[in-house]
Amino acid sequence: MSSHDSIAFKSDYSLREHNSFGFDVRARLACRIETAEQFALAAREARARGLPRLVLGGGSNIVFTGDFDGLVMLVALSGKRIVRTDDDAWYVEAAAGESWHGFVEWTLAMGLPGLENLALIPGTVGAAPIQNIGAYGLEMGEYCASLSAIELATGEVVEFDAAACRFGYRDSFFKREGRDRFAITSVTFRLPRAWTPRADYADLARELEARGTSATPQAIFDAVVAVRRSKLPDPLALGNAGSFFKNPVVDVAAYEALRAEEPNMVAYAQPDGRVKLAAGWLIDRCGWKGRSLGHAAVHDRQALVLVNPGQATGSDVLALAHAIQDDVKQHFGVDLEPEPLVV
Ligand code: EPU
Repeated sequence: MSSHDSIAFKSDYSLREHNSFGFDVRARLACRIETAEQFALAAREARARGLPRLVLGGGSNIVFTGDFDGLVMLVALSGKRIVRTDDDAWYVEAAAGESWHGFVEWTLAMGLPGLENLALIPGTVGAAPIQNIGAYGLEMGEYCASLSAIELATGEVVEFDAAACRFGYRDSFFKREGRDRFAITSVTFRLPRAWTPRADYADLARELEARGTSATPQAIFDAVVAVRRSKLPDPLALGNAGSFFKNPVVDVAAYEALRAEEPNMVAYAQPDGRVKLAAGWLIDRCGWKGRSLGHAAVHDRQALVLVNPGQATGSDVLALAHAIQDDVKQHFGVDLEPEPLVV
C-alpha cells in the first residue's frame, strides 16, 4: 500500500524531539501525516479507539505537562511552489509540514521578498497561521492570501481566505473556534511586487545601522537572524518556546497611571487607541531575568522567554509562569496571558 492510503501508528512514542522545551513525554499513539487524506484517516482511527487527538507541527509553541494519552498526528506534508503571478504580486504556497524558516529562505532565494522580517522563527508553515506568528514589525497574516484546512470530523477540505482566518495579535480563528476542529494542510501567501522595507523596529534598525548596509530584503533577513541569535536561545541548545506570554494590551488610562510610576516602561500605541506593554520589560522590572524556580528558569537575555536548562518538566515551567504572573499582577496590576498551548 502507498503512504497515501495507509498510516503506520506507533505506540508509546517519545515526543522529546517533537517539543522545543525538550520535555521527555510520550504519546499513547503517534503517526506521521504526509497527505491531507491521512489526516482524515488518522482522525477516524482516533475516534474508533476513543482517543483524543493532537495535531503537532514543530512543537515550538507547546507545553506538555505530562504524557499525552491519545493520538499525536505529526505533520509532515511537504512541498512549496509559486502558484501564480500577476501584475501586482506573486502567490506562493507551502505545505503545512515545511519548516517556516526554510520557506522564508526559499522565497528570498526565488527573488520574492516580503517575509524576511519573519526569519528564524521556529516551527512549521502549518502552525504559523494558528498564532499568526509575528516579529520585527510584521505579522504573517498580513501576507496570507488563503489557506487549506481539513475538517477532521468529516474529512472535508475547506478553503479559508485571510478574512476568514480572523488574524489578530498572536491570534486567529484556529486558536479559538477552529481549535481541535481543523488541521491546516497548506498556506498561500500573496507577496506584493511593490516591496518596501519594514525596518522601523528598534532592534532591527539598530542592527542595520551597525552593519552600514541599506535595507534590502536579504540585509533585513540577515539582520533579523543576527538579532534573534543574540537574544533568543536556540531550542536545540536550551529548551524553550519563544515568548511565554503575550504582550498585554491595556487602555490609555491604565497606561498613563503605570507610566506615572514607571517613566521608562516600554509601550507601543495600538491602532485602536489602546497601548501594548512589553511583557518582557515588566517581568525584567520585577527582577525575574535569569532567575530559576524549581528546574525551570527565565532566560538571562530576554525575560519573556522561559527555559528548560535540562531537568525541567512542564509543571516546573507552569509553576514558574504562575509565580511571574502573580508578581506582575501585584506590581503593575497587569494580567499576563501565556502564549503557548498547554497540553
Ligand atoms: N525588554 C526588557 N527586558 C527583557 C526583555 C525585553 O527590558 O528582559 C524590553 C526590550 O528592551 C524592548 C522591549 O522590552 O524595549 C521589547 O522587547 P523585544 O524587542 O525583545 O520584543 P518583545 O516584545 O519582548 C516580541 C515578540 C517576539 C518577537 C519580538 C520582536 C511577543 C509576545 N513576542 O517580543 O516573538 O520576536 O517582539 O518582534 O509579541 C514569540 O512570540 O515567541 C517571539 C519571540
